[in-house]
Amino acid sequence: GHVVPFRGARQAGIVTPAQDRLHFAAFDLTTSSRDDVVDLLRRWSLAAERMTRGLPAGELGPVGGAYDAPPDDTGEAQELRPGNLTITFGFGPSLFGGGDIGPDRFGLAARRPNALADLPHFPGDTLEAARCGGDLMVQACSDDPQIAVHAVRNLARLAFGTAQVRWSQLGYGRTSRTSSAQATPRNLFGFKDGTANLLAEDTAALDEHVWVAPGDDPAASWLAGGSYLVARRIRMTIETWDRSSLREQESVVGRTKGTGAPLSGGQEATEPDFTRTGNDGRPLIDPDSHVALAHPTANGGVRMLRRGYNYTDGSDGLGRLDAGLFFLAFVRDPVRQFVPMQNALAKNDLMSEYLRHTGSGVWAVPPGLADGADYVGQALF
Ligand code: HEM
Repeated sequence: GHVVPFRGARQAGIVTPAQDRLHFAAFDLTTSSRDDVVDLLRRWSLAAERMTRGLPAGELGPVGGAYDAPPDDTGEAQELRPGNLTITFGFGPSLFGGGDIGPDRFGLAARRPNALADLPHFPGDTLEAARCGGDLMVQACSDDPQIAVHAVRNLARLAFGTAQVRWSQLGYGRTSRTSSAQATPRNLFGFKDGTANLLAEDTAALDEHVWVAPGDDPAASWLAGGSYLVARRIRMTIETWDRSSLREQESVVGRTKGTGAPLSGGQEATEPDFTRTGNDGRPLIDPDSHVALAHPTANGGVRMLRRGYNYTDGSDGLGRLDAGLFFLAFVRDPVRQFVPMQNALAKNDLMSEYLRHTGSGVWAVPPGLADGADYVGQALF
């Protein structure tokens, strides 16, 4: 595996070509001290940089420390790393508090970005409180699941006494491509996913849709150069889907299951033509299909950088797979981009019949750590 640099203008793990494995974790702070929070971010940044470089989380490593003390690295990634590990940090609305959001525990409420608030209730949401929100967010991605889990585990260990894991999610099999060099993978519906995604090479589109610009929010200048991450744990009713016809499946998506071409014709990369009709005079792409409703033309030009993963958490005790898509998207403004699109999808998308949203969260993702800077998010404190 390779090393993805931890430092840079942006945090790694956003436009980094999507790795195949994910361990995502939301943390809640258990301290009421701002100094403790800063100290945690400092220690997390140090350990994260070490781990992404292929080093143990702590300087002594799994076996180099005192015999009567717990090791400063848990050891299970020793022969595996670095494995393209990226660790991306984010700050949830509850870290800031203020207004309807909750207490201002750390004196940060005045610096909460306007766009950083809990997502509204969407039609059909069946969210589980134990899979929602969190003061802090850690997205660890790697080519090897053990490396991603090792990273989150060691950050959780370092947080003991200051923060604890609120919920976490494993993902396998990226469901997006984030670089033109990557092939389009498939989601658990069996369809290519990521065809029309924003890509790392399209820097103008990233500036427009992903990166927070300096003038976006005067109260939150610390976030300039960063982004927002929206997470949705979306369970698929796999067994129902598997009993639906290929015709139904393709009309729900609006693309073919084989090549991923739009139902209006062409190849995978062909732009969908929503005006094209068949012999019966009806549009070839159903106006209520996922692609028709998620397309920029139906959303005032809105796009997002999708970076989700398939997940399977065993089965649910009724013989049904607890499986689906852990949707992750980076956007410049969740209120203008994610919220209206998800409202439209939740109301009209033919796909909603096969989906249940069970987890949710939104976090501000600070810019990357410049050379010489101590910790991610330093400009906030
Ligand atoms: C496109 C699947 C949830 C936004 C697509 C495509 C598939 C797909 C197969 C077409 C290929 C592509 O361009 O990537 C799914 C599945 C979902 C899901 C299985 C849930 C389990 C969502 C959600 C959103 C979203 C929650 C945002 C609120 C988009 C966008 C596109 C897209 C923006 C690109 C549309 C275009 O530009 O043509 N999705 N999706 N998807 N999806 Fe989803």
